[in-house]
Amino acid sequence: MRPLTAHIDLNALRHNYLQARRYAPEARAMAVLKANAYGHGAIACAQALQDLAPAMAVACLEEGQALRARGIECPIVLLEGFFEADELDEVITGGYWSVLHTHWQVDALLTRLARWPQHRMTVLVKCDSGMHRLGFAPEEVGDLCGRLQAHAGIEQTLLMTHFATADTPDSPLLTAQLETINALRCLLDLPGCFANSPATLGVPASRHDWVRPGVMLYGVNPLEPQHALHDEIEQILRPVMTLESRIIAVRELQSGEPIGYGARHVTHRPTRVGVVACGYGDGYDRHAREGTPVLVEGKRAAIAGRVSMDMLTVDITELPEAGIGSRVTLWGRDASGSELSVSEVASWCDTIAYTLLTGILPRVPRCYHQDDDARESV
Ligand SMILES: Cc1ncc(COP(=O)(O)O)c(C=O)c1O
Repeated sequence: MRPLTAHIDLNALRHNYLQARRYAPEARAMAVLKANAYGHGAIACAQALQDLAPAMAVACLEEGQALRARGIECPIVLLEGFFEADELDEVITGGYWSVLHTHWQVDALLTRLARWPQHRMTVLVKCDSGMHRLGFAPEEVGDLCGRLQAHAGIEQTLLMTHFATADTPDSPLLTAQLETINALRCLLDLPGCFANSPATLGVPASRHDWVRPGVMLYGVNPLEPQHALHDEIEQILRPVMTLESRIIAVRELQSGEPIGYGARHVTHRPTRVGVVACGYGDGYDRHAREGTPVLVEGKRAAIAGRVSMDMLTVDITELPEAGIGSRVTLWGRDASGSELSVSEVASWCDTIAYTLLTGILPRVPRCYHQDDDARESV
């Protein structure tokens, strides 16, 4: 078999979820599992969290259906709501909680609820408190919530918003968003659902009454390096995905020889090159610069030459013990405990950890690990 595998540590996933609960003890934490649980496999992740998480969140009904089909029974939040009115029968009857961010959604839902007098739904009214992506203007929200609360088919109305800069210390935009949304929450006397991962960890004023941690569940530190809590969080979260492959060929090159497409790298000394089975056809980012780190049997080495579709090349001159079959960790924690964070790799690719994790393609087998004896619980 091709040696490339994404190992998924479900104990680490549970550990990270429990950290969200620890930082926001007064709130309930819905586990954000959209985009196939940020590339980790939504079904396995949902199954691993189902005894802990009172709700889970996905982007759309199709993602929710996949979880329901595999026995996930908790409320599933649709973070963008429904896209067409014909989704509504299933949304209403299937135990989903819908975000509402446009007037047509409110009208369509309230009309369709008349068909289902025995069903009552929870909705999250999304307020645009300043990010200017989805949501109603703050001054519209009061009337809308009143209308929803007065409807017999609505069981519970939550006030929701999303922050643009919760990862950044001392952000004036975050302060303004918090003022807007917390004032509205008090005025309307509604339960809130505001905090993504960085807010869950670093913004106490955002932790009403539900939090929505996503990327932190997968072990990614969501705070900017200059944030006061960055180093503390670095110690606490555990990587969930370890992307691992092996060296499949070794080339011994003289100084002055090119490596790979475009001859981007030209050796400046006699060089041993390890060819690794992993490329952009697996989702590894082709923008990885010269020097992007990998671990070879736990020791750091650097990418030399452009990433190709199924392979990448690593300078292993300083690692004479490395050869065909050596284990290469593209990110995560290897068997010896050495770690390379996906955030560090992302910085070499001019991107963020979210895109690397969600970008791992289906052709990469996911291998799930769960040790029942080491399983953390509340
Ligand atoms: C509406 C909403 N809530 C929560 C999250 C989770 O955010 P994070 O992964 O930063 O925790 C996202 C992710 O993009 C989102 O779009």
